[in-house]
Amino acid sequence: MEEKQEFTSMPRIGDKAPEFKAVTTQGEINFPSDYKGDWVILFSHPADFTPVCTSEFMTFASLENKFAEANCKLVGLSIDGLYSHIAWLRSIKEKIVYKGMKNVEVKFPLIEDITMNVANKYGMVQPNEDSTKAVRAVFFIDPNGIIRAIIYYPLSLGRNFDELYRVIIALQAADEFGVATPADWRPGDDVIVGPAGSCGSAQDRMDGKEEMDCKEWYFCTKKISKEAIFDKVLKN
Ligand code: BEZ
Repeated sequence: MEEKQEFTSMPRIGDKAPEFKAVTTQGEINFPSDYKGDWVILFSHPADFTPVCTSEFMTFASLENKFAEANCKLVGLSIDGLYSHIAWLRSIKEKIVYKGMKNVEVKFPLIEDITMNVANKYGMVQPNEDSTKAVRAVFFIDPNGIIRAIIYYPLSLGRNFDELYRVIIALQAADEFGVATPADWRPGDDVIVGPAGSCGSAQDRMDGKEEMDCKEWYFCTKKISKEAIFDKVLKN
């Protein structure tokens, strides 16, 4: 007989980020209204005082300024209480040396979510992975409070921070320049131009009448320099 599984609804790309009020290590926040005008990475981790999460928090904290320069704020969450969060962040600062990082202070808010209120709203608890801990979820939320990308990792797998940064830059580049970004795109690589809207424009593209490089009428790229991308995306 087929095994029954429970499915819960989760926010999706394009949805409004679910609203909540929460206590954090930096005081109370109202989400997403406190972040209007900024990009935000809202992420969950399984538990305080665990090794993979500690490596991730040190990495997030050491990259906080780099994300801030890209107009992006960080907000963390786990199903732990405030005093656990405070004790863990103090221990990281005072005791942990890892990959050249030491004395690392986590200055971004870490949400206490012992009631699972926020974790449940965002589908961060995935019971077949673990019913009492959040998975490693990453929500990329735009300045209008819309979810633009979501990545989930299981408990055992630490996140790739180059990828998180690449996603934040690529989303903003797509908005600023009205383009899409191909596989493995990095700033400075060619970008994808939207599809031809008519047979005429498909032909124009293949006749070289448009300023783009067309491999076929439906697959055209153009150049945008790294400087132009960062000029639009990075704060001065
Ligand atoms: C960790 O962060 O190391 C971890 C947390 C929960 C389960 C497994 C690993």
